[in-house]
Amino acid sequence: MTEETPGGAAGSTDRVLVVDFGAQYAQLIARRVRECRVYSEIVPHNLSAQEFADRKPTAIIFSGGPASVHVDGAPKIDPGVYDLGVPILGICYGAQLLAQQCGGTVGRNERGEYGRTELTITDPGTLLVDVELGPQSVWMSHFDAITEPPTGAQTTASSPDAPVAAFEAPERGLYGVQFHPEVLHTPCGPALLKRFLIDVCGCAGDWTMTSVIESSVAAIKAQVGTGRAICGLSGGVDSAVAAALVHEAIGDQLTCVFVDTGLMRSGEGEQVVETFDRHQGIELIHVKAADRFFTALAGLTEPEAKRKAIGELFIRVFEDAEREIEGTAFLVQGTLYPDVIESGTKDAAKIKSHHNVGGLPDDMEFALVEPLRNLFKDEVRAVGSELGLPDEIVWRQPFPGPGLGVRIIGEVTPDKVATLQAADLIVRQEIHDAGLDREIWQAFAVLPDIRSVGVMGDERTYGWPIIIRAVTSEDAMTADWARLPYDLLETMSSRIINEVDGVNRVAYDITSKPPGTIEWE
Ligand code: XMP
Repeated sequence: MTEETPGGAAGSTDRVLVVDFGAQYAQLIARRVRECRVYSEIVPHNLSAQEFADRKPTAIIFSGGPASVHVDGAPKIDPGVYDLGVPILGICYGAQLLAQQCGGTVGRNERGEYGRTELTITDPGTLLVDVELGPQSVWMSHFDAITEPPTGAQTTASSPDAPVAAFEAPERGLYGVQFHPEVLHTPCGPALLKRFLIDVCGCAGDWTMTSVIESSVAAIKAQVGTGRAICGLSGGVDSAVAAALVHEAIGDQLTCVFVDTGLMRSGEGEQVVETFDRHQGIELIHVKAADRFFTALAGLTEPEAKRKAIGELFIRVFEDAEREIEGTAFLVQGTLYPDVIESGTKDAAKIKSHHNVGGLPDDMEFALVEPLRNLFKDEVRAVGSELGLPDEIVWRQPFPGPGLGVRIIGEVTPDKVATLQAADLIVRQEIHDAGLDREIWQAFAVLPDIRSVGVMGDERTYGWPIIIRAVTSEDAMTADWARLPYDLLETMSSRIINEVDGVNRVAYDITSKPPGTIEWE
């Protein structure tokens, strides 16, 4: 099983294999490789050395992972991989494993290093040559630490709790870093990865988004053949780009279905239908299914139960649509990589069941077509622009498939949806009027399942609070709460309380991700 980054080997034939040891960050590494314009694939750690060789890699990168090399059953790599003559870069757990398997030592630390850590470069070698020699801020997340690098390797940097924070053994083609060069909080990370790919491995760096589109179109044609596909449109950028890609591949064998769940933002249904009619030239069916969704959600309060109920009902609605369009065997979804990783994989922990991944029923009648499954949101936006989609679609804020269902805590009812829609519209209008649309990743309102006492016009009130959530992010894997101006928050607060019935209090969520998630459920 190999997760291919769309793009195949178009451009040069350089191919980087990112070995997944169960890291939340494996795709982030693959994405950083793509940013260096080199094609990459994610592969599981249990491939044999021959299977690695068969893929003809130019470079191999070992990801981090949650395990300790000292526990039984910790993921390992076939030692034959070290004899393939392909340069290897180990990151965090990957570096520890590489050290342990190649003659170094990994110690058990008294305490770990988590978060921002100071790196001291002792010898820049090749990877750190662009980095200033003074202390460098890097992102660490480890407990064990390498105490001896692999045989023949030079230690190039250290940190307070990682005596071998980076090492290089050029003659053996072995490189390792204890920190995470792939995350934004490691400023020297991009330069380090580029040195590895270009200088050490000799990659040409000529791979582009156009190659993503070309090879996705070819893969979709091969998968769907002469069959028919339907695509669930949510109005968000992901499903729109997926639809445009599939349309490019199979033309009018595609029908789009927009399901109005009753859990959309204010005015959204009409906007989606109007935008698609105008811009896409794709056949669109509009299914009004609010009653079915409210019935399925009645009495449900537990977040995973709500997500699963919504995920299942989406499929049932698509199956009904399919019966009207003869011969439909494929369902196109705009699933992105963060949806996949957070829904849990064999090696990565489950955070929440995204409706289009972990929320899918087992007895579904469709084969899935998911051309964006290995991409991050900004890459999807780039593909969308390349395909000529209008800015109003490409730059829409992300909106979760389960919609307001995961922003109403507890049971979802039509009344609560109406309250939340009104408050959410105010938040979005004010962000727009403040010119912050592109700066803010997502801004929305949440309705919790509590009420509080207030006083309005000399009368006691007992009403709902609204929580405003606004975050900045690059890819939704991590996010920070947006430092919105106080005046803007004040305007939102007074408008919500004055304009939305039943609301008497407004709070602002100042939690980053992690430890929170962007959505509340
Ligand atoms: P979280 O809440 O996990 O969200 O930090 C990360 C990003 O994913 C969106 N999201 C979803 N998108 N189906 C989707 O299509 C889902 O079930 C889902 N849940 C969360 C969320 O809005 C944010 O952009």
